[in-house]
Amino acid sequence: MPIIAPSLLSCDFLHLNDECTMLNESVADWYHLDVMDGRFVPNITFGLPIIKQIRKATAKTLDVHLMIVEPEKYLADFKDAGANILTIHIEATTHLHRIVQEIKELGIKAGVALNPHTPVSMLEWSIKNIDLVCLMSVNPGFGGQIFIPQTLDKIKSLKQLILREGSHALIEVDGGVTLSNAKEIIAAGADVLVAGNTVFSAANPKEVIALLKNI
Ligand code: DX5
Ligand code: ZN
Repeated sequence: MPIIAPSLLSCDFLHLNDECTMLNESVADWYHLDVMDGRFVPNITFGLPIIKQIRKATAKTLDVHLMIVEPEKYLADFKDAGANILTIHIEATTHLHRIVQEIKELGIKAGVALNPHTPVSMLEWSIKNIDLVCLMSVNPGFGGQIFIPQTLDKIKSLKQLILREGSHALIEVDGGVTLSNAKEIIAAGADVLVAGNTVFSAANPKEVIALLKNI
């Protein structure tokens, strides 16, 4: 069964506590939290204060996706805010090996996200050290976009790399995941499905989360 990580980017922030209660009661495994700075991506979302509040509202894993420049400056801050997994973008750092080590030294899991154009081979020499690879299946910045179909081949190629190198990294797919395409995404080798719009625009989000989990 896949790990389901609803993205709160599409939730109702005026009723954040209710949304957390809904997720806690659902079979969702993780909370996926999208931090955007208006520089790495053309959008600004939320940061440390909101994550601290969400931490109080759930015992589930907080999967924090940093779409920010210079992520190395804020690793300890996000850990202290409650992140269990900290994912940085490979395009946002010059020293991938160092930043992955720094995240792990904080005692949390290290994720690396790849934009749609970034080849999986960029991870050839670091995949053994990484806990999670987030493959962007849309251009990062916004919820509710359409899944880029080439991602399916990219998942397969990443899976091969992981198996070849004996890595324990999980494959997370982020962007445009729906009830229609989730099955083939999992069949291609994904371990974690992020879903924002699909979950939060549904009349019954808990039911949609359960459908994704059992797809
Ligand atoms: C996009 C974010 C995604 C986004 C996914 O930049 O990283 O996590 O919230 O949203 P949907 O599932 O609506 O494409
Ligand atoms: Zn994300």
